[in-house]
Amino acid sequence: MTQQSTDAGDLMSLCRRRGFVWPSFELYGGVAGMFDYGPTGFSLRNNIVDIWRDIYKRGEGFVEIDSETVNPQEVFRASGHVDQFSDLMTYCSVCRSPFRADHLVKDIFENPDVLSPRELDVAFAANGIGCPECGGALGPVEEFNLMFRTTIGPGSSRVGYLRPETAQGIFVNYLNLYRYNRDKLPLGVIQTGRGYRNEIAPRQGMIRMREFNMMEVELFVDPDDKDWIRYPEVKDRTLTLVPNDTGEPVVMTLDEAVGKGIIANRVLAYFIHVTRELLVRLGVDPDRLRFRQHLEDEMAHYAADCWDAEALLSYGWTEITGIADRGCWDLSRHAEFSGTDLTHFKMYDTPRETEVERIKAKRRELGPRFKADAGRIASLIEAMTPADIVGGRLVLDPDGEALEVGDDLFEVVTVREKVSGERVVPHVIEPSYGLDRIFYTVLEHAYEYDAAKDYAVLRLKPEVAPVKVGVFPLMEKDGLDEVAREIHRSIHSHRVEAYYDGSGTIGRRYARMDEIGTPWCITVDYEALEGEHKGTVTIRDRDTSLQKRIPIGDCGRIVGELLEGKPFDAL
Ligand code: GLY
Repeated sequence: MTQQSTDAGDLMSLCRRRGFVWPSFELYGGVAGMFDYGPTGFSLRNNIVDIWRDIYKRGEGFVEIDSETVNPQEVFRASGHVDQFSDLMTYCSVCRSPFRADHLVKDIFENPDVLSPRELDVAFAANGIGCPECGGALGPVEEFNLMFRTTIGPGSSRVGYLRPETAQGIFVNYLNLYRYNRDKLPLGVIQTGRGYRNEIAPRQGMIRMREFNMMEVELFVDPDDKDWIRYPEVKDRTLTLVPNDTGEPVVMTLDEAVGKGIIANRVLAYFIHVTRELLVRLGVDPDRLRFRQHLEDEMAHYAADCWDAEALLSYGWTEITGIADRGCWDLSRHAEFSGTDLTHFKMYDTPRETEVERIKAKRRELGPRFKADAGRIASLIEAMTPADIVGGRLVLDPDGEALEVGDDLFEVVTVREKVSGERVVPHVIEPSYGLDRIFYTVLEHAYEYDAAKDYAVLRLKPEVAPVKVGVFPLMEKDGLDEVAREIHRSIHSHRVEAYYDGSGTIGRRYARMDEIGTPWCITVDYEALEGEHKGTVTIRDRDTSLQKRIPIGDCGRIVGELLEGKPFDAL
């Protein structure tokens, strides 16, 4: 068996032929950066989502929501996407083709996406860079916001955007979720769904899609307690990190990475580990997986620290997941823009004595001025805080009428008080999974050209394979088909995806299953009906092509055991 390096073209051709993905709108010439999932691809994608959900919901106790994809513009003003979510672009002044400006200088600069529009203009001129399509002169570099803009309702008064990330649907529901969690942190929330980015010139197949699928996780934590209860279980696991200070890959344990300050905190380290486990369980090759820390000037506007899980693909090292510490960015901004308190009241284990500034009324001055009302005015003054003082004056509201008092009637004093807790803005740890990129990586890492068979086999993990078992009658007659249909039904009754195929040579039928990554095939031959093997059928293993005979009545149970991880040899 020979393994060839995967060619994206070969893989995409298999994907089209076998119903994994199709370029969208092909009937009308297609639209770049848009793909539809066919039956096998959609099953594979759903299996990936189910495993992700299993890890976060059942494994870590997170909750899942589903929020709107069209959002009013206030959401993305607060999140920073209206002002900061753009790429730099240029048009060819002759053929009008659009280009991402940083991509045109990627062979000249190590990190071209940090260059300003003017720096890019200068770089084009200095290096004689013209239009890659026709050689024409490039126009001035300008910013292009990647969000799809729309209106909500008729007219143009209510501007909306298709969401560029599912994360904001979680942030704008923070208060609902926090109350649902009985006002406690940590609070973990997941959401899967579509995101939309109007990419300037998508040219890398499923790696850069304009309408894409995300699996996002937002974990709200106490900013002073960035730890995770299960961290001790995993702290000695190793992984390949590429820290931003050296840019060199290094293998180390999570605890070493946290100890040396390479990964900022334990909760971030824990979820980097969870991400590695998830990706490997899905079928990403651990030898083609690494975690690269973003450079300071590479990070998204909301991120305080960010690590990308990168897979080695035919396109080179490619981000398939981002694990960011978003700090208090999102909740602070939504609190500011909506005028709503989004803080968490953090109770101390034991009350703490602390120095606080309070306003104290000068009662001796108040008496002569307010007579019988002096006591009430003093209480109103002392209910204010130093933050309420403007220009040395406080505005009180006795009987609904503003009453201004100057600092001749109050003073700010420092007192020691016992406090039971404080209000904090939760920080957010965000593992954000690019579902389509993971889907593509799983396929590329599973793809193997088998020279002996002269076709490509997808060596998918059984758990993600769209079909777990093919069921074939050797011939569709003499009762073989009835036995095969009964086996097919019985496997389905175990809620396992099986595929009945009665036509074509048996070799072609195996090949079809190998190409979609089906781990096992059951064939009903004439021996099933008579002779010493009566009542048994063959089961074939995709990766070794080994075959064994098993009792007809045990097919469902045996496939179940194989799916649980029982080795084929042990049957
Ligand atoms: N929420 C992460 C991202 O948009 O990439």
